[in-house]
Amino acid sequence: MCVTAVIGAQWGDEGKGKLAHILSLDHDIILRYQGGSNAGHTVKTAGNTHKFSLVPSGVLRSDRTCVLCDGVVVNVVTLADEVSRLRGSGHLLGDLFISRHAHLVLPFHCTQDAYFEEAKGKGAIGTTRRGIGPAYADKYFRVGLRAGDMLRPDYGDMVKALAERKNVLFKGYYNQPEIDPDKVWAEVEPTVEVLAPLVTDTISLIRTAVRDKKTILCEGAQGVLLDIDYGTYPYVTSSHPVSGGATLGTGLSWRDFDRVMGVTKAYCTRVGAGPFPTEDFGEDGDRMRDAGAEYGTVTGRPRRCGWLDLVLLRYAAELSGFTELALTKTDVLDSFEELKVCVAYEFDGKRLDWPDLDPDVLSRSKPIYETLPGWNKDTTAIRSEGQFPAAFMDYVKFIEDYVKTPVSIISVGADEDATIIRGANG
Ligand code: GDP
Ligand code: IMO
Ligand code: MG
Repeated sequence: MCVTAVIGAQWGDEGKGKLAHILSLDHDIILRYQGGSNAGHTVKTAGNTHKFSLVPSGVLRSDRTCVLCDGVVVNVVTLADEVSRLRGSGHLLGDLFISRHAHLVLPFHCTQDAYFEEAKGKGAIGTTRRGIGPAYADKYFRVGLRAGDMLRPDYGDMVKALAERKNVLFKGYYNQPEIDPDKVWAEVEPTVEVLAPLVTDTISLIRTAVRDKKTILCEGAQGVLLDIDYGTYPYVTSSHPVSGGATLGTGLSWRDFDRVMGVTKAYCTRVGAGPFPTEDFGEDGDRMRDAGAEYGTVTGRPRRCGWLDLVLLRYAAELSGFTELALTKTDVLDSFEELKVCVAYEFDGKRLDWPDLDPDVLSRSKPIYETLPGWNKDTTAIRSEGQFPAAFMDYVKFIEDYVKTPVSIISVGADEDATIIRGANG
């Protein structure tokens, strides 16, 4: 096995960080291929909680190489803080590299994100306000700065020039106060010392690693349903969480991949605006939020909760070519007598087995549920497959049969130990 991708199969926060940490045990290089500090990935090890926004979760293993690849947008202030924090706590022991092509998120991108959201009023997307959309927009507008620019003697002038351009927009379009380019540079300049030494040609690094049969783990951020093209546009992020993003954003080719693992919760959550057919506004949704501590890692916002949507899970599996699924947070359903799963929609009096992600259509697509018996038992101490109640395994089998993809890992708690690798430990 050479290359594995870990992909969010829903609207993010599926537990990718935990899974990437588990799988990093068997991989030499761990990389991020898209997104930026909108990601919040949590890993719990022996009583310690680690939260990552840009550095791949594999960094906790000592001699791993971590890479922020071409498709990532790097918030220089956040990354410099994260690197310093990890070094301070002795966790950044292996190498960390940043692609010279990775675009930079500078402080004014976050300002622009906030102005944009405020201007949209009720129609706001509910972004994380981490400057993701504006940074990718600058990339495609071909005015963005890249990590390689940090190595140039005129980097400071480039940052200030882009800040001046933003002022035209901030004042003229958003009717907001201008920013001071010198103040922006004062915030950005100290990050150069930390980050510039990490910038390199990561395409060459990755191609060499593939030729040398090194094992590579691609840690996705967000989830397929937030993909800019394949998600619920415009209620999406500005990058490609689908598995295709892992080739576009790294220098890997589709032929390099052996495993594509879709990570899905045993139910659904979403943060921010946008359609969510199985959202539960009643007591069940509240129970999921309480039991699953469903509050955003990045913004602290309460996550919207609802039942597992197999129509959307199959969509995600087919688009990303999942070879397997990791089923997380099953413990959150431990106390439910009955479980609903969405197996189709009703739209305009017709049954839909395939989703239309257009927000107008998806928001009016009414879930058709099957009700399965709950297992009604505390499963958090289970560590091998044979210990699960029959109703639990029936739930897993129902998902596998519908999505036509095997569940290879089951996660029954946040801690790294609370993980059952099927076929390995029972
Ligand atoms: P990511 O963005 O996909 O990495 O996921 P997040 O870290 O944002 O959110 C997942 C949350 O659920 C984190 O707080 C994890 O510690 C926690 N978590 C992960 N797996 C499990 C699990 O199986 N059970 C429970 N109860 N919590 C889990
Ligand atoms: P991880 O990697 C959950 C959501 C935001 C918003 C939309 C656009 O932790 O799973 P953006 O800031 O990207 O422009 O926001 O996408 N969003 C996430 N939701 N998990 C994430 O990342 C997310 N990253 C962005 O809430 O609805
Ligand atoms: Mg998260």
